[in-house]
Amino acid sequence: LALAANLALAQVTGTYPAVPLASKHFSYPSGIPYKVDTDQGLVRGTQLGYNICNSTTENQNSLCQTSIFNSLDDFCLWAPSEPGKTVGEIEGEMIAWCTKPGHGTRLIPAGTLTGVQFLKTPDYIQAVGFMDQTKIDMVDGDYGGEMDPHGADLRGNPMGGLVFSNKFTGQYLQAIEWHNFIGSNSFCFKACDPNGPNAKHYCEHIFDRIGCAYNAPNNARNGTFEACDSENQDFPGVYTGADGAVTTYRQPPESLGPITSVPYTARVPASSNCTPFESARIYTGLPEPTGVTTTGANPGPSGLSTSRTGSGTGSAGAPAPTSANGAQGRMAVSVGA
Ligand SMILES: *[C@@H]1O[C@H](CO)[C@@H](O)[C@H](O)[C@H]1NC(C)=O
Repeated sequence: LALAANLALAQVTGTYPAVPLASKHFSYPSGIPYKVDTDQGLVRGTQLGYNICNSTTENQNSLCQTSIFNSLDDFCLWAPSEPGKTVGEIEGEMIAWCTKPGHGTRLIPAGTLTGVQFLKTPDYIQAVGFMDQTKIDMVDGDYGGEMDPHGADLRGNPMGGLVFSNKFTGQYLQAIEWHNFIGSNSFCFKACDPNGPNAKHYCEHIFDRIGCAYNAPNNARNGTFEACDSENQDFPGVYTGADGAVTTYRQPPESLGPITSVPYTARVPASSNCTPFESARIYTGLPEPTGVTTTGANPGPSGLSTSRTGSGTGSAGAPAPTSANGAQGRMAVSVGA
């Protein structure tokens, strides 16, 4: 009987959408559907929020899942819709929290961000920063994880999440490839130029356990807000040894336990033309923080972590304590891959 029931269930549920999220392309804003993820009966359920976002959806209960990434003072992070759950538990249901009114989203409360570096490179834009993550409904001490438009079931994390930027050409374009790590009171968000030949490499999504230091190497500093030009990084996971040999790192599966060391340190690309800003001047029109005030231990940014929760022990090869390399990823969903 159980076998028959399971077979019946397998026939009405599936894992993969008809079209992977990364293959769904829209023009901004008129081409965007109410919901991007409309497949029924898939194992991860339905898209939490919506993609048409406007003045009626712009409030602190918004479930907008269309994210904007333009500049140091105009970007969004993927964060929870309500407090109490770790990124790993709800990576498929994250919503857009933005630094600027006008995108139909929630706003990142005043004082959340304590340092941000924005880089424009030939092939991508990147924002890396420090924050009090409890102010955007994240669990205090959560090491977090990686959001990207793939996920093990190709529906993306969050499911149905879109990212648009006007930074590449001056017109809004969908960033087909992007990744956003958040956790350990830090974040890194990279969106790759959709017309760049290596977008899927610079915005690689398979190194979800080794965080910002490897996926978005940077020299962001807490307390500093700056926008710079930068060279491209090396493709995440690709490094050149002392002997000149180029190697691609293979991230071990979670079944082998914590990652305690990585055989290289990612090269931080050279940046230039850095312009400093004062946060009070660039992040305006934002609400005061609400909700739970948590005072637990702050693990601080660390390189690698051995578990999703707890304090920041178990780091290996930790970068300088002021760099924003803590956000750590792990796939919570093991379907498909
Ligand atoms: C505003 O967004 C809501 C929610 O997505 C949508 O139902 C509504 O049609 C939008 N309004 C306009 C004028 O586009």
